Amino acid sequence: MFILYNMVVADSILKGGIMKSLVVYDSVSAVKMTAKVAQTIANSLKEGGLEVTLLPVEDAKQAMSEEFDCLVIGSPTMAWAPTKAISEFLDGLKGKAFSGRSAACFDTQLKSIISGNGNKAMEAKLTELGFILVLPALQSYIEGRKDAYKFKDGEMEKAATWGRDLANKLSVKK
Ligand SMILES: Cc1cc2nc3c(=O)[nH]c(=O)nc-3n(C[C@H](O)[C@H](O)[C@H](O)COP(=O)(O)O)c2cc1C
Repeated sequence: MFILYNMVVADSILKGGIMKSLVVYDSVSAVKMTAKVAQTIANSLKEGGLEVTLLPVEDAKQAMSEEFDCLVIGSPTMAWAPTKAISEFLDGLKGKAFSGRSAACFDTQLKSIISGNGNKAMEAKLTELGFILVLPALQSYIEGRKDAYKFKDGEMEKAATWGRDLANKLSVKK
């Protein structure tokens, strides 16, 4: 797996130099916490030298037929799972050829022992589709009441660092 992954990365760098990433997210509440994490990750990937396309899940289907090296997918955790839109989006990718391409995912969630997480199901689906998970999933913790959520202290910095780690993992040179 490790050798295969490095061959894919090397192949992409040799072909065009710049790694292309798609950041696809859903965000449901009025304050759009997952969208904010997605934007932060997209910024870090750009700073790391990647070409980035940032798309809400409802606009993402079409982009999946274009060439890309890494899919980053994010969802609010709802009822211990990703949103219906994210689950349906990933289910709709079945039968397409993603074998060996890179992926990573993130969710937003309340930090509690009964939170569950959306990442687990997204990781399982991405693996089923043939993607190689290149980084442990990011959990972004929020707090407060619905429609007035805030990030817990340090969460945006954590997301920015995760995005940088992902860019580094993809061996992108500026
Ligand atoms: C119907 C519903 C179910 C939820 N279920 C969970 C859950 O199982 N675990 C959790 O940590 N947060 C849960 N939440 C809180 C969401 O994770 C939170 O609303 C979301 O992260 C905010 O992201 P957004 O602003 O991008 O929609 C739930 C929220 C709603 C509205």
